[in-house]
Amino acid sequence: MGTNEDKFKRVISHAKEYGFIFQSSEIYDGLSAVYDYAQNGVELKNNIREYWWKSMVQMHDNIVGIDSAILMHPKTWKASGHVDAFNDPLIDNKDSKKRYRADVLVEDYCLKIENKIDKEILKAAKRFGEKFDKEQFIITNPRVVGYKEKITIILSRLGKSLEKEDLEDVKNLILELNIVCPISGSKNWTDVKQFNLMFGTKLGASSETATDLYLRPETAQGIFVNFLNVQKTGRMKIPFGIAQTGKAFRNEIVARQFIFRMREFEQMEMQYFIRPGTQNEWYQKWKETRMKWHTSLGMGEENYRFHDHEKLAHYADAASDIEFKFPFGFKELEGIHSRTDFDLKQHQEFSGKKLQYFDHELNENYTPYVVETSIGLDRMFLAIFSNSLCEETLENNTTRTVLKIPPFLSTYKVAVLPLVKKDGLSELAKNIYKELKLEFNVTYDEKDAVGRRYRRQDAIGTPYCITVDHQTKEDNTLTIRDRDSMTQNRIALKEVENYIKEKVSFNSALSKML
Ligand code: GAP
Repeated sequence: MGTNEDKFKRVISHAKEYGFIFQSSEIYDGLSAVYDYAQNGVELKNNIREYWWKSMVQMHDNIVGIDSAILMHPKTWKASGHVDAFNDPLIDNKDSKKRYRADVLVEDYCLKIENKIDKEILKAAKRFGEKFDKEQFIITNPRVVGYKEKITIILSRLGKSLEKEDLEDVKNLILELNIVCPISGSKNWTDVKQFNLMFGTKLGASSETATDLYLRPETAQGIFVNFLNVQKTGRMKIPFGIAQTGKAFRNEIVARQFIFRMREFEQMEMQYFIRPGTQNEWYQKWKETRMKWHTSLGMGEENYRFHDHEKLAHYADAASDIEFKFPFGFKELEGIHSRTDFDLKQHQEFSGKKLQYFDHELNENYTPYVVETSIGLDRMFLAIFSNSLCEETLENNTTRTVLKIPPFLSTYKVAVLPLVKKDGLSELAKNIYKELKLEFNVTYDEKDAVGRRYRRQDAIGTPYCITVDHQTKEDNTLTIRDRDSMTQNRIALKEVENYIKEKVSFNSALSKML
C-alpha cells in the first residue's frame, strides 16, 4: 500500500467514503480536530467499548462501573492539579501568527534526523544486498552514530528544561537548532508560555451569577469523587476497581493525525483501589492484563510495545504507555499509571470530607493507593481500523480493499444476499434476514452483481456473506463466504445462526484473558 504516509491517507479517505468517520460540521468547512462517527463507525466504536466493558466489569468480580457527569464542581480540578499543572508549552510565530507546541517543534526536528538515518540504512541495504547487517550498520556507521547522538542530546536537554519549567531554555533550543515556522519559514518566535488544556464553560443564567466550570479533561476524577459512595453502597473490599467510559475534552494546541489527537474524545478508564505498599505488584499486574487484552484482538504482538516513563505526571510514582504501531509509527494507545494516594488525599483536603477505607483484616484506616488503566476509545478505533485496512491482489490480477476487523467487533456480522432478485429469492432472503436480525447486526443487499456486493461488504469489514440461490429453495442450504479467505461453503439454513454465533461472539476473545 505504498509508504506509511500513503497508507494513512488511505485510512482517512476510506473512513469517510465508507461511512465510518466524518469531519465535524463539514458543511461549514469543519471544526478542527473534532470528528463525528458515521453509520458504520458508531457500530464499531460501540463494539470496542462493549468489549472493553465486558473484559473489565463483567469478567472481574471486584470491578464495577459508573457513569459520572461531564460537568463537575470546579474545585475538583483545583484539587486534581489540572488547573495549575495541566499545561502544554506553546510558542507563536510572529510572522505567520501560527501557534505550536514548543516540544513538538523540537521532536519534529528530531524526526527529520530519524528520517536521515532511515535513508542511510536504505542506501546501505541496497549497496550491500543480502550481506547487509542492519544492527551492525546502525552501531558502527559514523554518520548514523552521529545522528543518534545528536537526537539523544537534544531530547535530553528538552526533557530536563521542561521538567525544570525552564521555558527560556526551550526557546533557546529552538533558536539554536534553527527551527523555522513551517508556514512563514521565519525564526521570529515569541517566548514559550504554558497553556492550560482545559475548556472552560459557564453554569448559570446571568453573567454576574454564573459559575466558571470546566469540561472534564479525563473521566478519572468522576471515579475518585465517587470512591466512597461506590465502596459503601457496593460494600466493596480492597482491592477493587471502578470503571467508566465517557467523553473528555482537551484544547489541544497541536491537533493532527486524524482521530489520534482530538479536542473532544472518549476515554475508557479504570481506577483500581489497593493497599498502600502494594502498588508495584498491581502496576505490573495491570500492565500484563491490559497487554493481554490487546493481544486477544489478534492484531499481531509485534505491533505493541511498552514505553516506561522517565518523566512522571504530577500524580504518579510509575507510569507506562502501551504503544501501538500506527501508520505514522509507534505511538501511545493506553496509559497505565500508579497514581499513589494523590487524588484521594487531594479531594479529601479540598472537600473537607474523609475519603478513607477501613481495612478489617489490618484493623486500620488508610487512604487507598490507586493503579489506573486509561485508554482512548478513538485511538483504539484508529488502531483497529488502520491495522485492518488491506489492499489485496487476487489471482485474476484484480485488487480488493478489505477491512479485516476482528469479526466480533465488526459493524455487521453478516450480509444476506439473494443471488438474483427474481424467482422468489429476494423474499426468501428477506425472511432469513429478519430471523438473523434478532441475533446479530445484519445487512441486506440485492443491488448489482453478487461479486460487487461481496466487495462492498469487504470494504466495510463484514466477516460473513450468505448467498441465497435457487438450490436454497430446493434443499434449504445456502453458501456462506468468509471475508478473509474468500472461501465459500454450503451449509444448511438451520445451522447458519449457530455457525455465525460461534465465530462472532466475544467469548473466544474474552476466554483468552482468563
Ligand atoms: N486519566 C489519565 C489520563 O487521562 P492520559 O495519558 O492523558 O491519561 C489517557 O490519557 C489516554 O487517553 C491516552 O493514552 C489516549 O489513548 C487518550 N487520549 C488522551 N488525549 C487524547 C486526545 N487528545 N485525543 C484522543 N485520545 C486521547
